[in-house]
Amino acid sequence: MRPLTDGTELLVGRDSELSWLVAWIREVGAGRGVAVLVDGEPGIGKSALVRTACAAATDAGCQVYWGAGDELGQALPLLPLLDALRITPAARDPRRVAISKLLRGGAVVGKGADLAARAAEQLIALVDELSQDGPAVLVVDELQWADRTTVAVWSRLARAVRQLPLLLIGVLRPIPRRDDLRSLFRIVGPGERLRLGRLAEPAVLELVAELAGGKPGAELARLAAGAAGNPLYLTELLDALTRSSCLQVDPAGIAELTGAATPDSLPEAIADRLGFLPEPARGVLRAAALLGVGFSVADLVTVTNTPVADLL
Ligand SMILES: Nc1ncnc2c1ncn2[C@@H]1O[C@H](COP(=O)(O)OP(=O)(O)OP(=O)(O)O)[C@@H](O)[C@H]1O
Ligand SMILES: [Mg+2]
Repeated sequence: MRPLTDGTELLVGRDSELSWLVAWIREVGAGRGVAVLVDGEPGIGKSALVRTACAAATDAGCQVYWGAGDELGQALPLLPLLDALRITPAARDPRRVAISKLLRGGAVVGKGADLAARAAEQLIALVDELSQDGPAVLVVDELQWADRTTVAVWSRLARAVRQLPLLLIGVLRPIPRRDDLRSLFRIVGPGERLRLGRLAEPAVLELVAELAGGKPGAELARLAAGAAGNPLYLTELLDALTRSSCLQVDPAGIAELTGAATPDSLPEAIADRLGFLPEPARGVLRAAALLGVGFSVADLVTVTNTPVADLL
């Protein structure tokens, strides 16, 4: 997150998506709930967009609850929702304490009872209760890493949301693909999905200008164009250039490269975000990166020496 001096987060080029979210916040304020999915490639700005919308929701007097899936936390059921809804054994209200005890196995339950399923029922009841107190926004970020029980609760809430003053937001990457995640796209209508694509060129230049402290010159703009409109890559690129003193702003306010700059940390940052892919998939991406922006499957077959069927 890159807070601006007034404490808000810099967000360029997402006016249309943000205005949809703000419209849904207004709907929720009027008692009409909606379930929304925000998806897009790693680093494209899903969380940043939804954080900005949540700040607007807070300003509009909504309660905001935010939890996120975790690649390493999938074994623990419901963790994103427990975090979002602040469920701890020390909570004040009895329902939160009951859920917490249930998941710790501290409650007396019938033999063979599925604790996670029982906790899921209680969580749905809790969300229902909370939204009776006033309009609420519940975000599950990184839904692609959430455990299946969390996804099941999200989908139950999505089906019931029209009756609640609740804006339910799920944020996810298109991969890894999972059947339960795919089914969410059948519950949420096409009009309630926001697919974030690459930032358009004017937004890229605006972001670069903000990060570089000056209007980008030709060389810097050319380098930034190679980041495929991905704000994470742009942010990493500009950080790396600044750290290695490869940028300068002239008296006319033009930010330009000082020499031939290839920041080492950019490939690292990209590799880090792609670390969840299996090694063969990363190998294909490395080959694809060498082939450039446009290439055919036949090129990829030749370069990777892999049959088409294995690539798909
Ligand atoms: N529209 C934007 N304007 C300015 N900065 C942005 C914008 N979108 C994203 N950023 C910045 O780019 C970086 C990556 O954004 P973010 O973490 O929101 O991506 P993401 O899509 O949630 O990625 P992931 O799938 O890995 O969770 C962050 O530093 C964020 O502040
Ligand atoms: Mg994110």
